[in-house]
Amino acid sequence: MLNIIICGAPGCGKGTQSDLIVEKYGLKHLSTGDLLRSEIAEKSALGIEAESFISKGNLVPDKMIFDILSKAIAEQTKNSNGIILDGFPRNVAQAEALEELMTKLKKEITVLLDMNVDNQELITRLLKRGETSGRCDDNMETIKKRLEVYQTKTAPVSDYYKNKNKYAAINGMGTIDEIFSRISGVIDSKR
Ligand code: AP5
Ligand code: MG
Repeated sequence: MLNIIICGAPGCGKGTQSDLIVEKYGLKHLSTGDLLRSEIAEKSALGIEAESFISKGNLVPDKMIFDILSKAIAEQTKNSNGIILDGFPRNVAQAEALEELMTKLKKEITVLLDMNVDNQELITRLLKRGETSGRCDDNMETIKKRLEVYQTKTAPVSDYYKNKNKYAAINGMGTIDEIFSRISGVIDSKR
């Protein structure tokens, strides 16, 4: 079973590479950003609250994330090849809560893939996507805030998994195929 975390700054390619990982390894994709955006589209109470954080580039409260995710993780790790977690955990408190949940489920995180991409390239990708995505956070002001929040809150999650020897840095620059072949190399070494 492979339970993978894909991590990295906004626009590093988490969603793009997750789709390829799902196709090749048959994992279940759990993206907290996608789950939140579908709540926003439905105009649910949770979606309306989440949008006020997302549009400013801030993280939504941990409790909200855990409420929507813990049930999904329990379901998707049952009778499956494993999961790919995209956009979660996003701070050390979430990493600790995930560890507790996995222990309860008698499962284990296999590896955290940390995608490294230059800041200028991140901004270029996100502004380009913003022309068509309709995402409330794909604008220059919010992108700057997201990058700042990534550095202060999310980057420390890497150390948490380095300490557990479950960390792999991935060069996230280049073509989508080049990056995927680097990722496949790491995943294949863990099977
Ligand atoms: P989330 O949806 O997770 O967004 P993000 O981390 O900002 O990342 P993106 O989805 O923008 O980028 P990506 O890394 O998936 O890259 P993609 O493949 O799309 O989170 C959004 C918000 O929700 C957060 O800010 C927060 O408020 C909230 N949230 C989510 N999870 C949370 C949590 N756990 N706790 C608290 N709050 C949470 O690629 C980007 C673009 O680049 C695409 O257009 C793509 O086509 C293109 N591209 C991809 N690869 C390449 C390449 N190699 N070359 C050129 N272009 C490329
Ligand atoms: Mg994404």
